[in-house]
Amino acid sequence: MSANKQPKPFVSSVRLLALLGLVLCVAGSLAAAGSRPQAPQTAKDVDTCGACHEDVAKAFGRTPHSAIGAASCTSCHAGSEAHLKDGGGAGILAFKAADSAARKNKVCLTCHTASNAQFLAGPHGKASLDCTTCHSVHASKPHDGAKSGGTKACITCHQDVYAKFSLNERHHLQEGVLECTTCHNPHEPSTLGRLGGFKQELCLKCHTDKGGPFLFEHGSSRVEGCVTCHDPHGTPNRHMLSTPSVADLCFSCHTIQLPQWHSSFNSQTTNCTSCHTKMHGSNLSNIFIR
Ligand code: HEC
Ligand code: HEC
Ligand code: HEC
Ligand code: HEC
Ligand code: HEC
Ligand code: HEC
Ligand code: HEC
Ligand code: HEC
Ligand code: HEC
Ligand code: HEC
Repeated sequence: MSANKQPKPFVSSVRLLALLGLVLCVAGSLAAAGSRPQAPQTAKDVDTCGACHEDVAKAFGRTPHSAIGAASCTSCHAGSEAHLKDGGGAGILAFKAADSAARKNKVCLTCHTASNAQFLAGPHGKASLDCTTCHSVHASKPHDGAKSGGTKACITCHQDVYAKFSLNERHHLQEGVLECTTCHNPHEPSTLGRLGGFKQELCLKCHTDKGGPFLFEHGSSRVEGCVTCHDPHGTPNRHMLSTPSVADLCFSCHTIQLPQWHSSFNSQTTNCTSCHTKMHGSNLSNIFIR
């Protein structure tokens, strides 16, 4: 493609405008078609830029964006007009730290409307992260796209959460059994708005036996789902419970309507689940003892 090693010093602005027009059309129709590529559109643009950026242009041929013919150089690097005129001048969007997150996100979201509809409203968008915080567009292997996967992309910032995955009782994330993105959508990672749905159905994908349906449900699960009692990142307590003493957990909701003879029970010596064995629900007992 870029066999021509001589820099093309000047591109007429008429041609450039035509080119940008084409790019916008392509981008627009991609967005409308749910980001599905139609046909390769990159060649011209890659040649123009590749005249000077030969290595980048060559490597670009191995990235997902070129393989599906979705994006030309200028569909991401806005403001190329002045850059081309001056043979490498300023003004082009280069996705540097100094460029605003809003400007960077806007470019990517032109096409990625479907998969990232919630990004800007989610905690990452609000905290001014941008797509290139996690994605290296010019990386050659497709899955470098997410800077190697759904855990590494997260732990630089969420060290505290990652640390919990080395506590005694935990999901085996560090051993690769699951990843942060098994449970979180990186583009809308907050779970707090979707209590029942996320916290329960998500867990039940793997822990099917905890879902019932039960004739007698434990009312607690309806409050906040599984995380009412478990911390899925890990805890020092057995079964990933959020408190060291099971009785303390139960007492946090059950203080009054306990049978009189329960009054001798206390959080040090009593394991409530030695009798109430079916804490997640039962078909036989409305007090979950079998
Ligand atoms: C899908 C969007 C996208 C497309 C298409 C794209 N780039 Fe980039 N480019 C970026 C981003 C984002 C960066 C910032 C570095 C990074 O995150 O990978 C960048 C960085 C660069 C840089 C500066 C850093 C470096 O690696 O030297 C150059 C030069 C560049 N791109 C040229 C090009 C050329 C030439 C093309 C077409 C062959 C192109 N880009 C296509 C998004 C894109
Ligand atoms: C005539 C040669 C030439 C052409 C054609 C050219 N560039 Fe450049 N480009 C340069 C030079 C030289 C630099 C380094 C400028 C600098 O560091 O200030 C550069 C830098 C860049 C950068 C990094 C800017 C930064 O702030 O670090 C990007 C991104 C870029 N070019 C993209 C493109 C794209 C996209 C095209 C095609 C639309 C293109 N270039 C066409 C010569 C060119
Ligand atoms: C002109 C439209 C367009 C623009 C602009 C664009 N993309 Fe894409 N991108 C696509 C299409 C189309 C695909 C392939 C989608 C698919 O297969 O579902 C894709 C694929 C991807 C993928 C998945 C790669 C893989 O491993 O499968 C990532 C990540 C991505 N883009 C990030 C970005 C980022 C970050 C930006 C902004 C710097 C950006 N894109 C800008 C159209 C675009
Ligand atoms: C916090 C890090 C992070 C940010 C910020 C981020 N992504 Fe992603 N993205 C990921 C990870 C991790 C994956 C892989 C998800 C998986 O494996 O389930 C991914 C996957 C993708 C994919 C391919 C799968 C899909 O969902 O279609 C595309 C396209 C994509 N991201 C685009 C974007 C765009 C556009 C932005 C900015 C609006 C963005 N991402 C912001 C981490 C991020
Ligand atoms: C560049 C730093 C950075 C990266 C990388 C990052 N995050 Fe975040 N994350 C933040 C910031 C900042 C917030 C908003 C402030 C907060 O709640 O801590 C946030 C918020 C969150 C929240 C919501 C917290 C709440 O209370 O609502 C979750 C969940 C989350 N991130 C998960 C992830 C996952 C999963 C990944 C990897 C795909 C990831 N983050 C990558 C910085 C980052
Ligand atoms: C087994 C599923 C699961 C995995 C794996 C998981 N999370 Fe979570 N995460 C959750 C649930 C459920 C919540 C909501 C907890 C709540 O509301 O109390 C949550 C909450 C969060 C929060 C906000 C509250 C807090 O505890 O700070 C952040 C940030 C977060 N997760 C980041 C991550 C990161 C980073 C990883 C990977 C290292 C990860 N999560 C792995 C299920 C998971
Ligand atoms: C009312 C608190 C509570 C709620 C809500 C809860 N659990 Fe539990 N869970 C427990 C207790 C207590 C134990 C320990 C039982 C014992 O001591 O034998 C446990 C044990 C477990 C175990 C390990 C032992 C076993 O039986 O396999 C898994 C897995 C588990 N819970 C998953 C879940 C899931 C998934 C949800 C949501 C559907 C959930 N839990 C909701 C209290 C709760
Ligand atoms: C992708 C499958 C998967 C998902 C999703 C998942 N888990 Fe797990 N869970 C496991 C596996 C596998 C184990 C056994 C430990 C390991 O290998 O990581 C486990 C262990 C547990 C245990 C400890 C069991 C014991 O015997 O002590 C609890 C409690 C638990 N999970 C709760 C949850 C909760 C709550 C959620 C939802 C936020 C959840 N899990 C989501 C696969 C999953
Ligand atoms: C988050 C609050 C919460 C926690 C923690 C909790 N429960 Fe419950 N539990 C409830 C609710 C709500 C009901 C339904 C009460 C109703 O319908 O009046 C219930 C019902 C019960 C019942 C059935 C009898 C009744 O009053 O309806 C038993 C037995 C019970 N819980 C035992 C336990 C034990 C043992 C633990 C500790 C392992 C525990 N609960 C932890 C909220 C909780
Ligand atoms: C030795 C077995 C045993 C232990 C240990 C035990 N329970 Fe019970 N619990 C029962 C039985 C049996 C009932 C049925 C009521 C009755 O027979 O008086 C019951 C009833 C209950 C009820 C339902 C009250 C009602 O009728 O609404 C709750 C709530 C309860 N227990 C909570 C707890 C908590 C919390 C603990 C731990 C501090 C605990 N139990 C420890 C056997 C036990």
